[in-house]
Amino acid sequence: MTPQANIVVIGTGGTIAGQGNAASNTAAYRCSVLGIDDVLGAIPQVSALANLRAEQLLQTGSENFDNRHLLAIGTRVAELLEQRDVDGVVIAHGTDTIEETAYFLHLTLKSIKPVVVVGSMRPPSAMSSDAALNLYDAIAVAAHPSSRAIGTLVVANEEIHTARDVVKNNSFKIEAFGSPYGPLGYVIEGRPRYYRHPSRTHTVATPWSIDALDTLPQVDIVYGYGALEAQTVRDIAARGRGIIYVGTGNGNVAAHLIEPLRDAARRGVVVVRASRTGSGIVLHNGAQPDDEYGWLTVEDQIPAKARILLSLALTRTDVAQELQAAFEHY
Ligand code: DGL
Repeated sequence: MTPQANIVVIGTGGTIAGQGNAASNTAAYRCSVLGIDDVLGAIPQVSALANLRAEQLLQTGSENFDNRHLLAIGTRVAELLEQRDVDGVVIAHGTDTIEETAYFLHLTLKSIKPVVVVGSMRPPSAMSSDAALNLYDAIAVAAHPSSRAIGTLVVANEEIHTARDVVKNNSFKIEAFGSPYGPLGYVIEGRPRYYRHPSRTHTVATPWSIDALDTLPQVDIVYGYGALEAQTVRDIAARGRGIIYVGTGNGNVAAHLIEPLRDAARRGVVVVRASRTGSGIVLHNGAQPDDEYGWLTVEDQIPAKARILLSLALTRTDVAQELQAAFEHY
């Protein structure tokens, strides 16, 4: 008989730790109230998948997560992965920002052991909750050797997504997760099946290690629209080291906002054009003369993950070409 993998399940809150008054409460309930021991205790079937240890790291909705929460989660996961008797980690997480935490781990962990971030759209108390199966599947994925060395994963609805690509794209439906290029694979009857692997650099091959990070530079996201006032852009640009400007379509910038963003770039604030569309490539020097204006572009990354990537990139360089290269490589 093959020995079971040792998996640590970390609780951080979210709907997967939520509770409604009635089973019909699929969308109105209290978040982050059940401890991870209780959430796991309700799924005794997981003991057939792995030797499990649970720990409660946080207990809050992921909409509250700032850079310190990301660093705290990353630090704890890295400590666990270094332990010889830990084969993988599952993080139970609110779904709102699962894609950001997962991407941060994908870029900063220095281990090939599987790390899976999982949430649910309905609390365990709701009719047809996705909590039990999502967590069961996440543990199955983390425990399986085929999940090693492919970066941080997000499991939902029997699909396995790479942290780089996965996006929450619906506010209430169970089918709320998708990747623009499709999932890496499926998990069925407690076994993952992979059909492709991430092609962009991650985990052990990136220059960022969670062990070397104490803080992250402030990068803000500005959602662009024609009625956005130039002064608002100037005010935001005065605060941090970078701005992800979420333009319309192919990262278009309204004419009256070009000068405030050029000013920001002249003062050393990194300006990166992104797109409101949610998918596709923002072509460098396409809709705008980025090199002339001193701006960068996100390539195909969504604004929330572009913020994470730029924050990390700024810990090592201020050089525009090197920052742009990060968007092409990760
Ligand atoms: N409070 C939200 C969060 O933690 C709930 C969303 C969810 O977990 O589905 O992200």
